[in-house]
Amino acid sequence: MTGAVHSPETLARFKLEAAEYAVDFIRSGMTVGLGTGSTAAYAVRRIASLYGSGRLRDIVAFATSGSVWREAAALGLPMLAEDLPQDIDVTIDGADEVDPGLNLIKGGGGALLREKIAAQASRREIIIVDESKLSPRLGTKWPVPVEVLPFGWKSQARYLSSLGAQPVLRCVSGGGEFRTDQGNLVLDCRFGPIDNLQELANKLQSRAGIVEHGLFLNLAHDVIVAGPGGIQHLTKRGGGTAGRDCQA
Ligand code: A5P
Repeated sequence: MTGAVHSPETLARFKLEAAEYAVDFIRSGMTVGLGTGSTAAYAVRRIASLYGSGRLRDIVAFATSGSVWREAAALGLPMLAEDLPQDIDVTIDGADEVDPGLNLIKGGGGALLREKIAAQASRREIIIVDESKLSPRLGTKWPVPVEVLPFGWKSQARYLSSLGAQPVLRCVSGGGEFRTDQGNLVLDCRFGPIDNLQELANKLQSRAGIVEHGLFLNLAHDVIVAGPGGIQHLTKRGGGTAGRDCQA
């Protein structure tokens, strides 16, 4: 992690490089999970391009949000039904923050619930990020998004405050409240660096009205990090910088 500030063009290049590296792990015949966000979008387009050219055959895709479903279908990818009739071979998704244990904060795009469903149903979850997403401890850079039912949501906001967060109701650019694909609200919760991720996750899970939270613990198998030095392929086995031969 350099902490360097990169131009939008450079960041876009890093995202593209991470996406292309990850898509190399997809094989013909696979069921593929499509992540949400600006980084995952590069992977969606790359997969669609390979499918369109015939280099990837007989794949079927599962989208982690309505917007990705529409984009992928428009690009010609065969889409799996929403009831998810089979497990996913490989999902490629982005993240907002990644710690050294490959735990993640996700949900900056508001798709955390569907993204977690896809991650848990995936044999392999590959996360693609630029190096700015790396963090010594989750919560250092990014709030934890918490999806809550609209019914009684202010009670959940008070509960989150009691856990030490500063919850902020997510709004769209026009000023109205943001709604997830499920019609729920998102409270962005700035906890600061989080000491005990599992304890916090347990407290979030135990509260009625909280539908899901953006802590993705032990769900990523691989994290592909793009930066000025090239690609780093991090895995749960210890990882490190790897070349194209690190395919499992
Ligand atoms: C979507 O809900 C998120 O989990 C995204 O995967 C995450 O916010 C990363 O998005 P970017 O790739 O746009 O930074």
